[in-house]
Amino acid sequence: MPNAADADVVIRTLTAADFGEADRLLTEAFGPRSPANPPPTAESYMRPGRHSCGAFIDGDLVAHASGNEFASWFRGVEVPTCGVGGVTVVAEHRGTGLLQSLFTSVLGEASARGETISTLFPTAPGVYRRLGYEVVGSYDTVSVPTVLLASVAAPAATTTRRAHLDDIGAVRAVYDTWARAQTGPLTRRTTSFTATDAELSENLTGITVAEDADGQRVGYAMWNRNRGLHGATLDVEELIALTPDAARALWRMFGSFASVTETVRLRTSGHDVTRLVLPFTAWDMVERLPYMLRVHDVAGALTGLPLAVDTVVSFRVAGDVLGAMDGYYRLEIVDGRSACERLSAVDAKGAENLPVLSPQGLALLYAGRQSCGNLRLAGHLTGSTAHDTTLDALLGAGQVHVRDFF
Ligand SMILES: CC(C)(COP(=O)(O)OP(=O)(O)OC[C@H]1O[C@@H](n2cnc3c(N)ncnc32)[C@H](O)[C@@H]1OP(=O)(O)O)[C@@H](O)C(=O)NCCC(=O)NCCS
Repeated sequence: MPNAADADVVIRTLTAADFGEADRLLTEAFGPRSPANPPPTAESYMRPGRHSCGAFIDGDLVAHASGNEFASWFRGVEVPTCGVGGVTVVAEHRGTGLLQSLFTSVLGEASARGETISTLFPTAPGVYRRLGYEVVGSYDTVSVPTVLLASVAAPAATTTRRAHLDDIGAVRAVYDTWARAQTGPLTRRTTSFTATDAELSENLTGITVAEDADGQRVGYAMWNRNRGLHGATLDVEELIALTPDAARALWRMFGSFASVTETVRLRTSGHDVTRLVLPFTAWDMVERLPYMLRVHDVAGALTGLPLAVDTVVSFRVAGDVLGAMDGYYRLEIVDGRSACERLSAVDAKGAENLPVLSPQGLALLYAGRQSCGNLRLAGHLTGSTAHDTTLDALLGAGQVHVRDFF
């Protein structure tokens, strides 16, 4: 095989006709899929909202990446997001720079669709840092001894029952209410989310809903009872509670499995608010999947945000190898809404004195993960310190939540 460094590389959008080769490349990198899942087909590969790009050398597919049409909640606003997945370079061509060309193409298409930020789950964060992504959160699995859950205080006026098909709409609405109040989770309302109500409850032991005294659904848990008795686990794929009473009701219900399961494993992120009703400290990390973010379209991503302080901050972004972010920007907040525009170097007043953010620094600031002070310590923010407190006050420290792996 010729090496990418000295061969003609063609980057193009992949179609159903490329499915066979793409599947071979993905299987080679990530291993054969579990026989428990239906085998992928050209139709499932071309699912709505997924746009795949490939790099070809001499007609052979040598690198692959997909951009998924998502939207994420940030500060109560739905931010169009390109969720990148299926990233692989064929073994013989790794280390030759194909990844950068592929990401330029995937994110260029995403930008044209109006997606202003991009997120991904890295196998190794080092791969994506130089492409301007930084770790802003993680999707975690934690374990809790089931017997301890039996000690959770009884709910005052919330009951649990098994969800029926006609509860799924309300379950989705509970997720929406929770997600809108968080930093980072997907909206689950874009074209990429195709599961029907019936499909959502497939492959689960059950979905339990929590109902308040008025019969309102105020929480739910999706769960799977695994095999075995002694040492068995119960997997809670998702537990969302809109009230402390709902959190108590759901956790306590899982406590009722103490005689037949040793451990409850929960998929979660950040500081899970449902943990506040647990009267014990046990919460052991089983797995942590880091989540990375890149602010691809700086002006787009920083426009329309509800930010508290009316102010104007100019800044510069420098160091984007994909060539999209570098430049001068003016962020103005008027009547609590932001507008951000790109400036020419000439228009950027006092350009030489502006704060300068790296792409990773902007990712961390945008997600509210690090203060300006810490970004300076990490080398992601240099130049004038005059606006540090304003930027901190505007974008604030927060915790990123995510509940969808892709
Ligand atoms: C990950 C992968 C796509 C990277 O492709 P590649 O052609 O090796 O990428 P590049 O040579 O452009 O490397 C990009 C950067 O990532 C770093 N990198 C590559 N593999 C890495 C690893 N496993 N751990 C940490 N850093 C890594 C490189 O050192 C380089 O950083 P640098 O420019 O600062 O030196 C490729 O190795 C691969 O297909 N791996 C198997 C599948 C996989 O892990 N996919 C990622 C799914 S999220």
